[in-house]
Formats: sequence, structure tokens, C-alpha cells
Amino acid sequence: MTPRHVLAALLAVCIMTIGWSDTEPTSAETEATPSRTSLFPAGPRPDQVVLSWAGDPRSSVSIQWRSNGPGGQVLYLPADAVNPFLAPRPPLVARAETTRIADAGLTNYPFTYWHTARLTKLRPGTRYTYVVGDPQSGCWSAPRTFRTAPARTEPFSFLYLGDAQYGFSRWAALLRAAYRHRPDAAFALMAGDLVTRGNDRDDWDDFLTHGSDVLSQLPVVPTIGNHECKGGSPRMYLQTFDLPRGGAPGLEPERCYTLNYGNVLFVVLDSMSPPDSQTAWLDQALGNSSARWKFVMFHHPPYSSREDRDNKELREAWVPVFDKHHVDIVFCGHDHAYMRTYPMRGGQRVASPAEGTIYMVSVAGTKMYEQADRDYMEARFTDTIVYSVIEILPQIAQAPERLGLKTFDLDGQLRDEFSIIK
Ligand SMILES: [Fe+2]
Repeated sequence: MTPRHVLAALLAVCIMTIGWSDTEPTSAETEATPSRTSLFPAGPRPDQVVLSWAGDPRSSVSIQWRSNGPGGQVLYLPADAVNPFLAPRPPLVARAETTRIADAGLTNYPFTYWHTARLTKLRPGTRYTYVVGDPQSGCWSAPRTFRTAPARTEPFSFLYLGDAQYGFSRWAALLRAAYRHRPDAAFALMAGDLVTRGNDRDDWDDFLTHGSDVLSQLPVVPTIGNHECKGGSPRMYLQTFDLPRGGAPGLEPERCYTLNYGNVLFVVLDSMSPPDSQTAWLDQALGNSSARWKFVMFHHPPYSSREDRDNKELREAWVPVFDKHHVDIVFCGHDHAYMRTYPMRGGQRVASPAEGTIYMVSVAGTKMYEQADRDYMEARFTDTIVYSVIEILPQIAQAPERLGLKTFDLDGQLRDEFSIIK
């Protein structure tokens, strides 16, 4: 593909709607009578672009997006802020795998295509520019960038956001504020309940349409909440994100997984599956890791905001494993408020993070719950959407190895902070 060809493709970026070029929906897909109109119908131009990782963040990234046609490609180059179409050398090309998604209930949008491209053999610590699209339709996205993880341990930061669920305009404003504040953030943890109706296309369209300007540049590291499982299996969640496999045996792939970034291990658990289905695997994942920092994320907090929101079974299964391997922080959601515990070990408050684990709950969407005072809470508030920035600083010269966490509201006000020194 020559630059002239790709430039021609860029000029052909469509804004008009074309007719369905693929086969019509099957009879099974048309059994329901169309009864609702989507606010976010798919068109020929790619949208809802979202990044995640299924492989090593040093050498790979997964890019997913939507369009109303079956073809999908990524054009990319290791170059900062350069449009791959205009680069002096041809861009690299990755072909997407495409899934056809039908929703017979929609009058204006009965089916769409969800494209997944895995870019591999990337250079570590490198910013890439990319576009997604379809050479046949000539419709391409605007250029976006992402950065691979560095090969060696370096300082880095990441974001942590609690439940979005609904109120996506406000949630997206928070996400944009977080990204503007820390464009260097490597990724965003999202602690479940990303949407309300987990198997409703409209909710995911709302979430992705609002979030894509950031999520097309900032990989998301998500977990499953109870709302992802509305209607049974978290089918749309699993379809939406391309995530690491190799989770607990017996559990559907991608429901729980590990991710290594720099000197940090993340273990992402599925608190909607029985805790015992993951306890042995969790023990192994933490025990086999030599990472300096160990974090775990799942939706339901072991230390909750109110007595009537307790998750005893999960606490009894997993907290002894966190204690055994000295997990530094557990990131949760579900309680629609903000809460940070004192360092905890064996269910008791301990003197310092060197002795125990800090448990957090956060919220990024507009649904809010009341809190009660519990003796394990060191920081708490509600009725405020927030994001947290976690900075990981390896030992440099005389400075100690350190973690800093700061939590900000939508106005940029600092609402909580703490640090851990190793
Ligand atoms: Fe929840």
C-alpha cells in the first residue's frame, strides 16, 4: 500500500450512510418485532474504538471498534502524532477478526460488526499512531495513539475508576478530565458495572460512544460487575473487550486474568462466579509472581460501605490469600461511594501498609449510595464522582521505592491521598 493509495483512502472517508452490504438478518434474528430506535446506529465510519490487552503490554495491544460493514484493518506506525496515511513510508497493516452482532429489536440498526485486531511484535516503550477502517468502503477513523509498556522497570502511573453504570455524559467528562490531567497514564482500571443492562446493546453503545475518545488511546483493564451479568452470562462484556486468557480452570476464558505491567502484577477476579472457583488459581498467580507490587481488582468489596452490603463468602475465601501473599491494594466498586480502608490483615487493622492490604471502593457514574461508619474506614465520602491516579516509582538513586495514590473529583479537587514506601 503506497502513501498515495492510503491518502486516497483518507480522502474517501465517508460521512454518508451506505446501505447494508452484507446478508440480511437470519430468520432467527428477525423473530422479535423491532420496537426501539437506537440513539447510536452504526454507520460505515468506524466508531466506539477501544483499546485493551490480551497479551504482553510491552509488545502487543488489542484494538476493537464498530462499523456497519464486515471489513476491518488497522494501519499503524511507530511514530508520535503522525498520521499513518501521510507518513513517508507505508504503514504496518493488521487485519481484524470480525463478529456480526444482530439485535432484531432495533428498528434502525438490526445488526453491526465488531472488529478485533491484535497488534503484536510491537516495540517496547514506543508510541504508535494508528487508524482503523475498511479499505473497501474507504472509511477510516481519525488517527489515534497508544504506547507500549517499557521493557525495563520505569516510573509509570495508571488510573482507577469505580462503577460507571449510567449517566455516561458525566462519566465521560470525568474520564476526559482524568486523561487531560494524566495523559501519561498507562491504562485505566475499571472495577465493574460499566453499564446497567449488561446484555443490552443500547447500554454498551452509550458507554462506548461516550468513552471512546479516551478509550481509543488509554487501554482499559476491566472486571465483571453484577450488571454485566444481567440476563445471565456477561456475553456483551466478553465480546466488547479482548482480555488475557489463562484464568482459573473451569471458568469461561477472560472472566478472570492476570496482567503484568512493569514491576506490578494485577490479578483481576470475577466476583460474579463462586469465589472458590478462583481461590487456588489466585493463590498460584500471586505465589508464582516476583513482582514488587501486587494488586487485585474485582467488583464486590470484601470490606463494604454498609453492613447490609456485606460480601462474607468472598471475604472468607480470598482475604486469607491476599494476606498470605501481601497484596498491596485491592480495587473494588459496587458500593457507589468512595472508601479506603486502613491496612488490614486477618480482618484487623494493622499499623502500616508493610503489614497489610488496603481495600478501596470507588465510583465514577452518577448512581450514589449512602455509607455508614465502619471501624476499618480511613477515608470515605459519597455523592462525588472521582478518579484515582496511582504512581509507581521504582527505587531511583537515594529515593525509596514508592507508590502514591491521589483521588480527584470532577473539579480537579484532591479528595484523598496516601503513599506506600516499600
Ligand atoms: Fe454492582
